[in-house]
Amino acid sequence: MNTTVTPAAGINHPEYTRYTLLFVYACITYAIIGFSWGAIMGGFPLLRMYVDTAPHGRLILLAHGHINLLGWVEMAIFGAIYYFIPRLVNRPIYSMKLVKIHFWMHNVGLVGMVLLFTTAGVIGGYDPGPEVEATVNRLMAGVGLFGTMVLLANIIWGYNIFKTGKSGTNPQ
Ligand code: HEM
Ligand code: HEM
Repeated sequence: MNTTVTPAAGINHPEYTRYTLLFVYACITYAIIGFSWGAIMGGFPLLRMYVDTAPHGRLILLAHGHINLLGWVEMAIFGAIYYFIPRLVNRPIYSMKLVKIHFWMHNVGLVGMVLLFTTAGVIGGYDPGPEVEATVNRLMAGVGLFGTMVLLANIIWGYNIFKTGKSGTNPQ
């Protein structure tokens, strides 16, 4: 008995392959930045002291944590699931447009969050002025806005994957 399943048309669409690879390349890029960030932050005693003890210095730790978690970890999960699900159900992705929106929204949101976490951590520790708390709060509101973009991007991804899987299993 021949059990070979022929991949459905569209599963290997070049644009889908390109975006799946972009998620993997983004994962590698964020891993290199996030791991180096950890090594530098932990390796230099002055920096370690700053992030552990300066007012708001901990926000720089949070930037490191989130670039790793939302960058390295999530991008790997996205790339793997985008590869895996269409092959599992033998159907192309429900919407290529949503894949692109997901990719760009997640990346812009993540980079925005990390930049603002870092800026708030640096200003919070170095600026002794009376305005510093208000400035940090404004920057953290910005983290919230970019974080909302990341959240929406995750919902879009989930919807697209759900719609791809919805009509059951492999039709062959
Ligand atoms: C070579 C890789 C890495 C190095 C050298 C590194 C190093 C560090 C250092 C030095 C700290 C701060 C410790 C302190 O002073 O309190 C830290 C905190 C942290 N790291 Fe990493 N790290 C690495 C990879 C990762 C990865 C892959 C993740 C997540 C997937 C991660 C998540 C975190 C989190 C969540 C914190 C704590 C943030 C907080 O307390 O708010 N790190 N890391
Ligand atoms: C939309 C995305 C996200 C936003 C906007 C966000 C925002 C934040 C903020 C504002 C904090 C600081 C809270 C505080 O001041 O103590 C925080 C802490 C943290 N978040 Fe996230 N986060 C997001 C996603 C995630 C994800 C997906 C993970 C893990 C997979 C994660 C892991 C952590 C960890 C480990 C801490 C540090 C807890 C601590 O050291 O006290 N975050 N996050």
